[in-house]
Amino acid sequence: MAERQSIHGQWSSRLVFILAATGSAVGLGNVWKFPYITGENGGGAFVIVYLVCIALVGVPIMMAEIMLGRRGRQSPINTMAALSREEGANKAWSLIGWSGVLAGFFILSYYSVIAGWALAYVARAGAGLFSGLDAAGVESMFNSLVGSPERLLAWHTLFMLMSMFVVAKGVKSGLEKAVTYLMPALFLLLLLLVGYAMNTGFFVEGLEFLFSPDFSKLIYTCQVVDGVEQCDISGGPLLVAMGHAFFTLSLGMGAIMVYGSYMPKKSSIAGSAVLIALLDTLVALLAGMAIFPIVFANGLEPGAGPGLIFQTLPIAFGGMPGGHLFGTLFFVLLVFAAWSSSISLIEPAVAWLVENREMTRVRASIWIGLTTWVIGLGTVFSFNIWSDVKLFDMTFFDLLDYLTANIMLPLGGLLIAIFSGWLMKKASSQEEFAMAGSAYSLWWTLIRYVSPFAVVVVFLHAIGLF
Ligand code: TRP
Repeated sequence: MAERQSIHGQWSSRLVFILAATGSAVGLGNVWKFPYITGENGGGAFVIVYLVCIALVGVPIMMAEIMLGRRGRQSPINTMAALSREEGANKAWSLIGWSGVLAGFFILSYYSVIAGWALAYVARAGAGLFSGLDAAGVESMFNSLVGSPERLLAWHTLFMLMSMFVVAKGVKSGLEKAVTYLMPALFLLLLLLVGYAMNTGFFVEGLEFLFSPDFSKLIYTCQVVDGVEQCDISGGPLLVAMGHAFFTLSLGMGAIMVYGSYMPKKSSIAGSAVLIALLDTLVALLAGMAIFPIVFANGLEPGAGPGLIFQTLPIAFGGMPGGHLFGTLFFVLLVFAAWSSSISLIEPAVAWLVENREMTRVRASIWIGLTTWVIGLGTVFSFNIWSDVKLFDMTFFDLLDYLTANIMLPLGGLLIAIFSGWLMKKASSQEEFAMAGSAYSLWWTLIRYVSPFAVVVVFLHAIGLF
C-alpha cells in the first residue's frame, strides 16, 4: 500500500506522540474520577477489575486505535471510511467515527465544568484559603462553589476558551512543550502528597481500602436509607470499572486514533501503548494512595462522590509546611493535565471539519467549542438549580457521564476491536504494526477474542442477564 500522509502534519518524533497521548490519557480521570468512583464502589475489588480491564481490554484496543489511525492518516470518520473501503468492509464502519465525535462533545461538556472546579481551586489555594481548614471547612468551601451557577459558569467558560485556543493553534505547537515539563511535575507533586499521606497515621487503612479486595462489593451495592442498609444486586461496579478503563486511556471515541494518525511511520505501536497505559495507571494509583489516607484520617466518607478530591486535598495542603505553594502548584498542574486531555476530545471533530468542510482550524474550534459550551450548561446547573431534575435517578451530569463512559466508549471500543480483529486482513494490521511472531499473535488473540468478549460479558452482566 502506498503510504498516506496526514494533511494536519505529523508529530516530530515517537517521544512527542507518547507525550501527547499520555497528556490525553492522564487527566481528571486519574486524579478526580478514579478516586471517587473507587470510593463509591468499595475499593480493592473494584480496583482489581479496573486493572484487569486496562491490561486485557485497554491496551489491545489502544494498539488497535493507533494502528487504524496511522494507517488511515485522517480524522477517525474518514479513516474508518477509507479503511473499510480498502478492506472491503461496509462503509457504515465510519459510524465509529461519528459516535466518537458525539461522545467527545458530551464528555468535554462536563469535563470542562470539572476542570473549572480545578481552576477555581487554583484561585482559592493561591489566596491562601486552605490554611488551617478542617473537614467541615473544606466541605463548605466546596459547596459554596458548586452551589453557585454563576461561578461554575465563569470557570467553565474560561476552561472552554483555553481548550479552543490550543486546538485552534494546532495540537502540535505549544502543547508539546507544556506536556514535557508539566506531566513530570504533576507526578512529583503526587509523590509529595503520598508522602504526606504516609504521615497521617492512616496510610495502611488507605492502602487496604485500595488494594485489599472484597469481591462481594462488586455484586452488591448497598446504601443506607433512613438508617436501614439496603443492598441490591446490580452490574454497576463491573461496568463502571470497565467504562473507566476506556475513559482513563481516552479510548473508544477516536482521540487516540487521531493522535495515531499524526504518528511517524517507524515507531513501535505496542511499546508506546504499553508505556502510556503504565504511566496512566501509575498516576491513578498514586492519586488514590494520596487521597484515601486523608479521607480516613479526617473521618470523611470514601463514597462522597465527585467532590472527593476537592474535599480532601485542601485539608492536606492546609496542614503541611509549604502548603500554600504546593497547593497552588498542584491545582495548576491538575488544570494542565485536564487541558492536555480536553483538546484530544475535540481534535477528531476539528480534523473532520477541516478535511470535509474546508474550514480553518480556528473556525472549526470556535464552532465545536461553542456547541460543547452550551451542552456544558446542563452540567453546570445539575449541581445547583437542576439538582432535583433526574432521569433514571441521575442528574444531567450523572447521565452524561454514565452514557459516555459506560456505554458509548465501550461500544466504540468493541466495534474497533471487531473491525481490526475480524474485518481487517491480518496482513494489513501486521504490516502496520511491523511486529513479528509472538507479540503480534498475542495482540491478535486479545483483540479477536478477549477484549470483545470481555466488553460483551460486562454489558450483559450490567443489564442483569446473569
Ligand atoms: N483520559 C482523560 C482523563 O482521564 C479524559 C479523556 C481525554 C478522554 N480524551 C478522551 C476520555 C477520549 C475518553 C475519550 O482525564
